[in-house]
Amino acid sequence: MKTLVTIVGARPQIIKASAVSRALVTAAGALREIIVHTGQHYDGKMSLDLFRELRVPLPALNLEAGSGSHALQTARMLPGLEAFFHEIRPDGVLLYGDTNSTLAGALVAARMHLPVLHVEAGLRSGEHNMPEEINRVCTDRVSTLLFAPTARALDNLGREGVPVHPSFLPSPERPAAFLTGDVMLDNQRYFLERLDETAPAQQLQGQVLATLHRETVTADPSGLRAFARALLDIAEEGIPVVLPLHPRTRNSFAALGLDHEMEALAKHPRIRLSGPLTYLELLPVLRGCSMVMTDSGGLQKEAYFLGKPVVILRERTEWEEIVASGWGVTTPIDAASILEARRRLLGAPLPGRPAFFGDGHAAEKIRDLILEYL
Ligand code: UD1
Repeated sequence: MKTLVTIVGARPQIIKASAVSRALVTAAGALREIIVHTGQHYDGKMSLDLFRELRVPLPALNLEAGSGSHALQTARMLPGLEAFFHEIRPDGVLLYGDTNSTLAGALVAARMHLPVLHVEAGLRSGEHNMPEEINRVCTDRVSTLLFAPTARALDNLGREGVPVHPSFLPSPERPAAFLTGDVMLDNQRYFLERLDETAPAQQLQGQVLATLHRETVTADPSGLRAFARALLDIAEEGIPVVLPLHPRTRNSFAALGLDHEMEALAKHPRIRLSGPLTYLELLPVLRGCSMVMTDSGGLQKEAYFLGKPVVILRERTEWEEIVASGWGVTTPIDAASILEARRRLLGAPLPGRPAFFGDGHAAEKIRDLILEYL
């Protein structure tokens, strides 16, 4: 029996792990999965509630790394991971995405010559000032099995010299990349089918769903002010706005002295301001909305899967397919540009939606590759 250690830490990783863990359960005779939570996210709705809601096996270990600078947060994860790998001696370490938890897992596993298996490999936005871009480049560089969600991601890896779909058996010295599709599509399909049992009967329709949490914007008072101004203008047009705020963003409004803006958002009768929503709380809002405005990589894709146009609150994105297809528009963070991006999307006829992200069976492909190569 092979042992796989899966490392999660931030909200989107718990969501992605849900799809792959469901697939791995069917291989339970050949492989056991042990989940480690770094504790990067710790608010209930971004952490343990998600494990329960998405039926992810509860973590065998929580490192409780918590918040802090990138260096501090990453450093807090390393000794616990090393000790755990020494104890368990896994045959592989499964990582998701591009967070500090991903990087910590990759560093420790690679140093211990354990195969690193990376889900969501090959994404590149070219924004080297973003911690996520550094995390994904470094993680891919030390990975053995690289699971690319899109053809573009696979091409990126090929250009960087990673053999693509090779016939040899990959090893830490000879990595390989495979096109699998995106596990978030698997999840959305799976949970949408079950949504009607759980979603409240009364649902909003036609709303704009807005989120913002990247440090490049949340550290900048003019960016936060512009975001608030744009949402208030949309609400003034009569469009309801749902705004589930990441704790980082709420903290930034307070820390940067933007209480007036926060109060205007909170008091507006058409703006529904809340803390973070769980996956199953967000799904009906996403399904009912007319448009998404976000800087989240995950939400951009989830919007695309459901045919919702998305204003991408960044100047570049690692999901370039969404922009190329006409379903997304990137924007600098000033109110006029955000509103102009929205107008462009509203004015354009809705284009076709190519299946960039696969067929909803990415997790099974990842499971089969793991079983074949581990
Ligand atoms: C992290 C990921 C980002 C991902 C996001 C998903 C990195 C570098 N970034 O960003 O790629 O899109 O998760 O949400 O790993 N906080 C809380 N409670 C929590 C978690 C965070 O209050 O449970 C607050 C703290 O003030 C913390 C801040 O949010 O300092 C930032 O959290 P952190 O985990 O460092 O980064 P995210 O912005 O969540």
